[in-house]
Amino acid sequence: MIRATAIVTAVFAVTAASALADETAPQDVNFEDLAVMASLTGTPGDPVTGRDIFKDRKLGNCLACHTNADMQKELFHGTVGPAMDGAGDRWEPAQLRAIIADAKEVFGEQTVMPGFYSVNVGKDVREDLVGKTILTAQQIEDVVAYVATLKE
Ligand code: HEC
Repeated sequence: MIRATAIVTAVFAVTAASALADETAPQDVNFEDLAVMASLTGTPGDPVTGRDIFKDRKLGNCLACHTNADMQKELFHGTVGPAMDGAGDRWEPAQLRAIIADAKEVFGEQTVMPGFYSVNVGKDVREDLVGKTILTAQQIEDVVAYVATLKE
């Protein structure tokens, strides 16, 4: 727990979500039955960009907690969360959108997985980052599109 919290607070450089008119604001995301059916932007996610965001230590930094066989060349795969292999088989895209936008909505308040499109990122958030999301709405769509490709 302590280790995971340190990762969240120390490693993430939080990106301000630019408030574009056609984007769903973080507080307006509709979580229903552990899924978010509607795209956050209306623009299909790009799996290639999503792959970059996934491994970027300043963006998704998903490798801090998840191993991913698709990224064997990358160093330091964390094991705090489950392996990403086959995540695209286990979850529908709408479920992945919910998990990645705000894992607390799916796994409960106790999860150590950060809410990447939530203004409630976690404890001990740097003052200047309060009210900002880690990823933008389109970056969420891109990561969802990428993880959906991880089939076994
Ligand atoms: C601080 C650690 C941490 C980070 C960073 C993190 N996760 Fe997670 N994630 C978890 C944990 C832990 C779980 C398992 C649910 C639980 O026990 O709370 C999980 C669960 C998941 C699941 C469901 C896994 C399954 O197959 O059942 C997906 C998908 C997922 N994470 C994607 C991501 C993506 C994509 C990123 C980066 C944008 C990310 N996670 C970043 C900790 C993390």
